[in-house]
Amino acid sequence: MTPSILILGGTGKVGSRLARQLSASQQPILVASRRGTGNGHGVPVAFDWHNRETWEKPFATAASPIGAVYLIAPPSLDADKIMNEFIDFARERGVRRFVLQSASSIEPGGPAMGKVHSYLIELGQRGEVDWAVLRPTWFQENFADQPNHYRSIKEEGKVYSATGDGKIPWVSSDDIAAVAARALTSPEPPNTEYLVLGPELLSYGEIADILTDVLGKKIVHVDLSAEGLEERHQSFGMAAEYAKMMSAMDTAIKFGAENRTNDVVLAVTGDRPKTFREFAESAKETWL
Ligand SMILES: NC(=O)c1ccc[n+]([C@@H]2O[C@H](COP(=O)([O-])OP(=O)(O)OC[C@H]3O[C@@H](n4cnc5c(N)ncnc54)[C@H](OP(=O)(O)O)[C@@H]3O)[C@@H](O)[C@H]2O)c1
Repeated sequence: MTPSILILGGTGKVGSRLARQLSASQQPILVASRRGTGNGHGVPVAFDWHNRETWEKPFATAASPIGAVYLIAPPSLDADKIMNEFIDFARERGVRRFVLQSASSIEPGGPAMGKVHSYLIELGQRGEVDWAVLRPTWFQENFADQPNHYRSIKEEGKVYSATGDGKIPWVSSDDIAAVAARALTSPEPPNTEYLVLGPELLSYGEIADILTDVLGKKIVHVDLSAEGLEERHQSFGMAAEYAKMMSAMDTAIKFGAENRTNDVVLAVTGDRPKTFREFAESAKETWL
C-alpha cells in the first residue's frame, strides 16, 4: 500500500499545484485547508492550524498511512509553536518525512518558519525524521492571486511596493511545487534546504513594463514608503504585526536582499524555471 502524502495549505498557490502534480503520478494525497473544499485532486480534509480538534482528521480520513507531510504555515508570526507541536503530533502517528515551505528571506532559527526549519534540522540530526525545507523567493502568482495586486493592476493600472529599484528572482509556483514533489517522494531523504529562485532578476518597475507589453495597456509601478505599504497591507485585512514584517521585507529587497539567482529548479526537476513573461501570458485574463 503506497503511503499517503498530506498537503497542509493544499488549496493555496503552491499547495494546489503540488496536489495536481502528485495526483498525476498516482500518489495518494490528502488536501487540507480550513474550508476543507479541496481542489479536485486527492481527498479533501478540513484542517485548521489554530484548532487542535481538527488535527486528527487527516489521519482518520487517509486511505493509507500518512508517510509524509508538506507544511505550509498559517499567516501569523508565532506559527512556529503550533507547527512544531503538529510535527510531534504527526510523528506519533507514524509520519517520517516533513517538507517545510519557508521563504528565501528566513534563515534557519529565524522568525516563524525559521524555528520550524531549525527544529527539523535538530530532529534530523537525531535520526528521528527525514526532512527538506524549501526557501522560495517571491511568487509570480502573487500578481494574479492576491487582491492587493490583481485589483490594482486591473482597476488602476498600478503595482505597488516599497522596494524602490530592488530586484527579485520571481519564481513560478509550478516550479516550487515541482521541487516540493521531488522532496516528498525521492527514495533518498533530502535532509537539506533548497533556495528556490526564478531565472531572472526583475524590479517591480520591470514587472510593470512586462505587464504593459502583455496587456497592451500602461501599468506603472508606485514606489511607496515602508509605512505606506504597511498601511496598504492592513487596508487589505492583514494583521498589523504581519503587515509590518511584510513591509520590512520590501525594505530589505530595496537594499539588495533578493538580488541573486541559482539553478536549483533545473538541478532538482530537470526543467528550466518559468520566466515572468511566460507566467504573465498564461494569467493574462485575470487582469483584463
Ligand atoms: N507568496 C509569496 O510570494 C511567498 C514567498 C515565499 C514564501 N511564502 C510563504 O508561503 C506560505 C504560503 O503563502 P502563499 O502566499 O502561497 O499562501 P496561499 O496561496 O494563500 O495559501 C495558503 C493556504 O493555507 C491555507 N490556510 C490559511 N490559513 C490556514 C489555517 N489557519 N489553517 C489551515 N490552513 C490555512 C489556505 O486555505 P484556507 O484559506 O481554506 O484555509 C491555503 O490553502 C507562507 O508561509 C508564506 O510566508 C510566500
